[in-house]
Amino acid sequence: MASHVFLVGFLAITCSIAMASDESPLQDICAADSIAMASDESPLQDFCVADLNRSVFVQADDLFFKELNLTSNTSNAVGSLATRVFVTEFHALNTLGIAMAGIYTPQNSSYEYVLRSLIQMERFLPLPAIPKPLFIVTPFLESHIQAAIKCSKEHGMQIRIRSGGHDYEGLSYISYQAPFIIVDLVNLKSITIDVESSTAWVQAGATIGQLYHAIAKKSLTLGFPAGVCPTVGVGGHFSTGGYGMMSRNYGLAADNIIDARLIDVNGRILDRKSMGEDLFWAIRGGGGASFGVITSWRLKLLHVPETVTVFTVNRTLEQNATKLVHQWQYVSGKIDGKLLLRLFLRRINSSHEGKETVKASFVTLYLGGIDTLLPLMQESFPELGLVRSDCIEMSWIDSILYFAGLRGEPLDILSTNTPWLTGTYFKGKSDYVTEPISETGLESIWKRFLKYPDEITDMQFSPYGGRMGEISKSATPFSRRAGTLYSIHYGVKWKEEGISAMNRRMRGIRRFYSFMTPYVSKNPRSSYLSYRDLDLGVNNKGYTSYEQASIWGLKYYGINFKRLVHVKTMVDPDNFLRNEQSIPPL
Ligand SMILES: Cc1cc2nc3c(=O)[nH]c(=O)nc-3n(C[C@H](O)[C@H](O)[C@H](O)COP(=O)(O)OP(=O)(O)OC[C@H]3O[C@@H](n4cnc5c(N)ncnc54)[C@H](O)[C@@H]3O)c2cc1C
Ligand SMILES: *[C@@H]1O[C@H](CO)[C@@H](O)[C@H](O)[C@H]1NC(C)=O
Ligand SMILES: *[C@@H]1O[C@H](CO)[C@@H](O)[C@H](O)[C@H]1NC(C)=O
Ligand SMILES: *[C@@H]1O[C@H](CO)[C@@H](O)[C@H](O)[C@H]1NC(C)=O
Ligand SMILES: *[C@@H]1O[C@H](CO)[C@@H](O)[C@H](O)[C@H]1NC(C)=O
Ligand SMILES: *[C@@H]1O[C@H](CO)[C@@H](O)[C@H](O)[C@H]1NC(C)=O
Ligand SMILES: *[C@@H]1O[C@H](CO)[C@@H](O)[C@H](O)[C@H]1NC(C)=O
Ligand SMILES: *[C@@H]1O[C@H](CO)[C@@H](O)[C@H](O)[C@H]1NC(C)=O
Repeated sequence: MASHVFLVGFLAITCSIAMASDESPLQDICAADSIAMASDESPLQDFCVADLNRSVFVQADDLFFKELNLTSNTSNAVGSLATRVFVTEFHALNTLGIAMAGIYTPQNSSYEYVLRSLIQMERFLPLPAIPKPLFIVTPFLESHIQAAIKCSKEHGMQIRIRSGGHDYEGLSYISYQAPFIIVDLVNLKSITIDVESSTAWVQAGATIGQLYHAIAKKSLTLGFPAGVCPTVGVGGHFSTGGYGMMSRNYGLAADNIIDARLIDVNGRILDRKSMGEDLFWAIRGGGGASFGVITSWRLKLLHVPETVTVFTVNRTLEQNATKLVHQWQYVSGKIDGKLLLRLFLRRINSSHEGKETVKASFVTLYLGGIDTLLPLMQESFPELGLVRSDCIEMSWIDSILYFAGLRGEPLDILSTNTPWLTGTYFKGKSDYVTEPISETGLESIWKRFLKYPDEITDMQFSPYGGRMGEISKSATPFSRRAGTLYSIHYGVKWKEEGISAMNRRMRGIRRFYSFMTPYVSKNPRSSYLSYRDLDLGVNNKGYTSYEQASIWGLKYYGINFKRLVHVKTMVDPDNFLRNEQSIPPL
């Protein structure tokens, strides 16, 4: 059983962080990128689970290990003993399992390679600069996760849970509260679609691309509302929200989850019924990592028409982009929920020699055909000047490829999901807008956008309203519902290496964020959890008070923060599952 790093296809889908080539409508989000194939001689063959000698583990004396005090410094001899002990005990707890979990310790030559493959945010490379895990576990069975929780709890190690690895701050593979281990769910990715009941079970290690592909293989009139980039993992994405091109019609991914399996801090496997409605509520938007390890989700699949329509209309400042963006703010949240006009803003060379301009791209999905879309646009947004030749009819699954910048590729590309390093560094932040920004306001935003490329590379405006606004603010931990016009995503990207190049961008995007203050939500200014941002505040290494955590808690969850703290207090009073922005218990 080879490790995931070798399950590469000929193409890897790399996400957003790739610098723009001018090919696709959402090129900044996703780009297809070919990578060198790993050689057949897998350096990880050593880890083949079948090689492990189980009789050794059966003899492991559980009590003996418990006597050891292994919480101390892990980079010295005690630490490596802790690791050895853990590994042995881990297997001892799994003697009944059919397959063994893969374990990569620093002693193995492949450790660095595996760790590197987990790191999707290159800002966290080079490796020597980051705190590293004692080892990486890749479970094949839920029992492996139970064992990982039990053992790391006993030995005072922290756990980092990784599904797709897209966390903006790397919290699925970095801990500043070492010692820690990584539980990488890459081998838990099976998907079962039940067309008759329009439901699906999807394991947490699957990607949204694999989910979309699996649905399309069974039915062309079922879909699921989640994000755009196929390599995003369902474990992190669904537990933090999950906004996508169908969200105005169907809400977030989290709004369409009907059951889940979760392993709690005591190693118990729970489903919706046994975990209870409070915990089930918390993991649908409150972030999974504070509450347990989610191993799978049950989803309500939703109807998609056989034919949908997509278009990307671009307008520069010279082509009245300011007026159009201004108008878009009044239209995009009110029109038919079947229509989602996302707006991407980029800097490009203008037609005037030596000058730059802003290009606004209106990237749109309509759940219907061109003949109904055109009159709808003519009635609600004639200023855009949409014409029939801008529009393309296709199946919903082809629209997934289109928005991912993979149009024309075989559908299989959605399943060959090894994200790879792209050579681009990235930092993101987010905001919500509740009052339309005036034309003058937009003009000053463009001015700064053009003047300071070190502050910002691109912005995405994602419209709310429709179904997003109908769901109650407390139905899930995600509270940005009625009254929110749209969200803003800010990104700064760079290729230059080194700390000072990085610091320039980190300081830059913070300045831009500060500049945006008058235009965005207030009291508190809120942010989208999926676009995690440690600038908003972090937990202390020890105890963190409710008041302190409220600083970022209210930004992410609004009125729901309090209930999240109550759930946390109930299910993990000792705060075993914690990270820099986890929910603290009371
Ligand atoms: C290129 C790119 C495109 C994106 N596009 C969109 C988009 O279109 N819409 C949108 O809403 N968001 C989008 N996001 C944000 C994305 O939804 C979040 O980063 C999400 O958390 C990623 O999930 P993951 O499983 O890939 O990440 P991970 O890094 O694996 O996990 C993220 C967090 O969830 C925790 N976690 C992961 N799995 C589990 C589990 N099984 N149980 C408990 N906790 C778990 C991790 O510990 C970590 O704290 C995008 C991000 C990137 C980098
Ligand atoms: C619009 O801009 C995007 C992004 O730069 C580009 O990929 C696309 O081809 C453009 N579309 C049209 C119709 O010009
Ligand atoms: C497995 O371990 C047992 C006990 O240490 C040992 O006797 C046996 O030879 C080992 N088997 C293999 C195949 O290494
Ligand atoms: C374990 O080690 C820590 C730090 O070295 C120490 O504070 C603690 O008292 C020890 N616990 C036991 C049970 O020996
Ligand atoms: C841990 O041990 C290493 C090597 O023995 C040492 O360099 C480091 O300072 C120690 N760290 C702590 C926190 O004690
Ligand atoms: C790597 O791990 C495997 C399996 O756990 C083990 O057999 C092998 O000896 C390890 N290699 C090194 C260099 O530590
Ligand atoms: C911009 O708007 C003005 C007036 O509203 C109009 O006359 C002009 O044709 C528009 N330009 C473009 C390129 O659409
Ligand atoms: C924009 O123009 C500059 C020179 O003025 C050039 O170096 C750069 O490559 C151009 N960028 C694009 C995307 O064409």
